[in-house]
Amino acid sequence: MSLKKAVLRGCGAYLPEKTLSNDDLAKMVDTSDAWISERTGIRERHVAADGERTSDLAVEAARAALTAAGMGAGDIDLIIVATATPDLTFPSTAAIVQGKLGVRQGAAFDIQAVCTGFVYALATAEKFLASGQHSRALVIGAETFSRILDWTDRTTCVLFGDGAGAFVLEAVEERAAAGRGVLGSELRCDGSMVDLLYVDGGVSATQTTGHLRMQGNKVFREAVTRISQAMETVVEKAGMAMDDIDWFVPHQANQRIIQGVVRKLGLRTEQVISTIASHGNTSAASIPLAYCAGVEDGRIREGDMVLFEGMGGGLTWGAALMRA
Ligand code: ACO
Repeated sequence: MSLKKAVLRGCGAYLPEKTLSNDDLAKMVDTSDAWISERTGIRERHVAADGERTSDLAVEAARAALTAAGMGAGDIDLIIVATATPDLTFPSTAAIVQGKLGVRQGAAFDIQAVCTGFVYALATAEKFLASGQHSRALVIGAETFSRILDWTDRTTCVLFGDGAGAFVLEAVEERAAAGRGVLGSELRCDGSMVDLLYVDGGVSATQTTGHLRMQGNKVFREAVTRISQAMETVVEKAGMAMDDIDWFVPHQANQRIIQGVVRKLGLRTEQVISTIASHGNTSAASIPLAYCAGVEDGRIREGDMVLFEGMGGGLTWGAALMRA
């Protein structure tokens, strides 16, 4: 049985209407626009309205992706939602999204790898499509981190934002794909670093939702080396070199981490699709949101080679390579 290629047919993005600037945050905690923008590159972030759930954001992004792909709900037989901020403990946000979209066939499930979630989800979808088990997948990164932030903790509340991004991927015979599709992925986790980045609540531990806690500088120290290694591995395994990469679409955690990776791997700043200034860190949503921005403004075109990376709680990290 020959494996198929998972080819991107369309992407979609959704950001909540309300924005919060660094100056707005400076009225809430002891911080400043200068500190936040110099240390992170973030200038503002979007925040979900009262009652607006992760699934609502996901559905908006999914609808936009389906429109871009020229498909309808009836075409989709796999929905994967990467999120660390689900609507409910269960059912999965993917099941809720499936219901809202009116998809009645196939499978739907969530993936939890925090900020690496979209890379994990993309890699998972690729396996299901390549094997022929499913035909067309919606891969969504959707988060409402505003719900798990401690808004009195300046070390974390300035970093995150809400949003959702979605890809529609289709299984295509290798010859017809003509080199397009997800070409590889490298997924990693080191659970000995759970304490560096976690939420201090949960169903089994406290029966509360909890708040995000992070030893940011320790995560920062791990980031550049581990992310770069995953990127190098995925490119090498695909038989390519960094020179073959057209666009680098990183997880948007910190502009300094992105710059560190760019320097280490000899990429050029102009190859980076960065939305961190206006989105902040939207966790699993940040990669598809940035990708859509690159498509919308005409930078990323069909046939371009795109490299993704993510790093988040777990610690998890990883990279994926795709010809658009
Ligand atoms: N405003 C003003 N001062 C602040 C703020 C703030 N918002 N936050 C922290 N500070 C202070 C600290 O209290 C500290 O003060 P001190 O020197 O008097 O003790 C000083 O600034 C330096 O703090 P550091 O934490 O060392 O600052 P750093 O340069 O490391 O930047 C940051 C912090 C932005 C969090 C950075 O470490 C980072 O980006 N880390 C990586 C985050 C990441 O990638 N996370 C993974 C993905 S997220 C996920 O998976 C959910």
